[in-house]
Amino acid sequence: MGLVKDGSDRLHIDTPLMAESLMDKTLLEGTDGQVHDVAVDGRPAHPERLRDVFFPTIQAMYQRQDDWKDLDPKQIVQEGYDDIAEHHHEWAQTTRAEERARYASVLLDELPPGAEVLDLGCGAGVPTTRELAQRFQVTGVDISARQIELARQNVPGARFVQADITQLDLAPGSFDGIAAFYSIIHVPRQEQLKLLQDIASWLRPGGLLVAAMSAHSAKVDFDEDFLGAPMYWSGFDGETNQRMVEEAGLRIVSAREETVPEFDQPVTFLWIVAQKPVL
Ligand SMILES: C[S@@+](CC[C@H](N)C(=O)[O-])C[C@H]1O[C@@H](n2cnc3c(N)ncnc32)[C@H](O)[C@@H]1O
Repeated sequence: MGLVKDGSDRLHIDTPLMAESLMDKTLLEGTDGQVHDVAVDGRPAHPERLRDVFFPTIQAMYQRQDDWKDLDPKQIVQEGYDDIAEHHHEWAQTTRAEERARYASVLLDELPPGAEVLDLGCGAGVPTTRELAQRFQVTGVDISARQIELARQNVPGARFVQADITQLDLAPGSFDGIAAFYSIIHVPRQEQLKLLQDIASWLRPGGLLVAAMSAHSAKVDFDEDFLGAPMYWSGFDGETNQRMVEEAGLRIVSAREETVPEFDQPVTFLWIVAQKPVL
């Protein structure tokens, strides 16, 4: 956190060069003309220092964020994962590994051998797609060409498609299980209900969805440097997500928030297990 409010009108800048997360215009506008109310590293900021050092930084960051706003979110995600595919793979081996394994087990335990499973946003295919492919016929889909290239090398037994998961044309009732591990969170939230409806249509009656969705509402969440590339996320709060899953025609089997430290900060996802009703 680069800028914190202490309950009064004071604003504290807690990293001298401003944290990348410092994107909140309302907070910053509060400093306008009131430089004596701002503290740097816990000490009152000298107005000149603030004006000369911090305001240009803030302006440059606004400019960069405005530049990114003009880009298509899908392009940010696609190019981002093309750039960080290897790094993400490495990071994911130590981050949320137990969580991935536990939720992959839901499909592994519940579906019969040979079941048809779709992995939406499969990434480089490890560990999840590979585990699923040992027991099921798996199709992995990812928007990033580099992720798909790695997934083909890592999991030769599965079929992979490079595509946007919101643009898939798949036959209704063609999958017994669908995994969406940390991928719906990268889809603009106004497209997520339609995606859930598609998922419901692709499942056979009795089929299962296992998905990590957002736990907090953010129309746009943007990081200029996520593992080395700009990245975009979007999502609703947990309750809205559960309502959407039900509205899409699925019955929620379980919905649990899972919190794990990422870069030393607690990060929460809502894990949904949902079933297409048997008519
Ligand atoms: C955080 S990674 C997760 C990868 C893998 N599921 C895992 O658990 O490690 C998110 C993946 O979703 C993919 N993705 C994001 N938005 C997508 C979209 N609209 N269509 C297809 N893939 C998408 C990204 O390219 C990325 O590989």
